Amino acid sequence: MTAVKHFLDLDRFDTKTLRDILDLAGSLKRAHADGVSKPVFAGKTLVMIFEKPSTRTRVSFQVGMQHLGGQVVVMSDAESQLGRGESIADTARVLSRYADAIMIRTDDPKKLEDLEAYATVPVINGLTNYSHPCQIMADVMTYEEHRGPIKGRVVAWSGDGNNVANSWIHAAVRFGFTLRLACPDSLKPAPEILQWAVSEGGDITVTDDAAAAVDGADLVNADTWVSMGDADADARMKLLEPFRVDQALMAGAKADALFMHCLPAHRGEEVTDEVMDGPQSVIWDEAENRLHAQKGILAWCLG
Ligand code: CP
Ligand code: NVA
Repeated sequence: MTAVKHFLDLDRFDTKTLRDILDLAGSLKRAHADGVSKPVFAGKTLVMIFEKPSTRTRVSFQVGMQHLGGQVVVMSDAESQLGRGESIADTARVLSRYADAIMIRTDDPKKLEDLEAYATVPVINGLTNYSHPCQIMADVMTYEEHRGPIKGRVVAWSGDGNNVANSWIHAAVRFGFTLRLACPDSLKPAPEILQWAVSEGGDITVTDDAAAAVDGADLVNADTWVSMGDADADARMKLLEPFRVDQALMAGAKADALFMHCLPAHRGEEVTDEVMDGPQSVIWDEAENRLHAQKGILAWCLG
């Protein structure tokens, strides 16, 4: 029996597989633009479980399945028996009898592990408190469309060492670029993921100096200071104030550096309007590429 092809975290893949997925994404993007998409997901259904809000992930997965002839079912914990305590394990067994793949967005990475353990169809990580791998596949795709290979480039992150930052760490190791993270001491990524990056030979540095991280960078990233589920908003706003990406900070990056943000953005907090709407920003291409990158992920998972 062939192994089920889950898409859980970028550290679980080798570089070639991630490259294959991006190649699939690129060819599906071109086919859609040329009007020659084939209904390769005809008869296939993706179930999406949302335990947290979403705009991009939900709509891009749904539209991606529809472009390729497939269907989706969207579930929330509140409106399903998950909200009344049915276990993820039992839910996984049931959904595997109906669907061809399951995507989950959840607070708890353990639920993703349980889905993986009990589902007999591919499971896709649509964001947990720990990581957001689909986002970073779209981000790498976007960088490379604009500037060519990301390998050997310098990517900077200014802000919270959160789930999106963790997936950037995984990507830096697997795609071979330098990652400089600027985070307040108390909001740095966990030692375990940084140790993993070191053990894999990754070129990752963590500082509390945003200007040092951005200096000479090819790409600058921001994300919200208060992620879904974070309870300490006031403390975070104070701590993260020096990490705002504004034009002065961007000026320290390379002249042709790009700016990215996974969105939703809190304009005036982690990033200014000037940067969001400025000539270095590729945030709308990045958001669009969620659609194409996820078609690549689905095509890989569904074989
Ligand atoms: N970037 C992202 O995942 O957006 P949503 O929360 O809207 O899905
Ligand atoms: N770090 C953010 C990303 C949203 C797409 C959050 O988890 O809320």
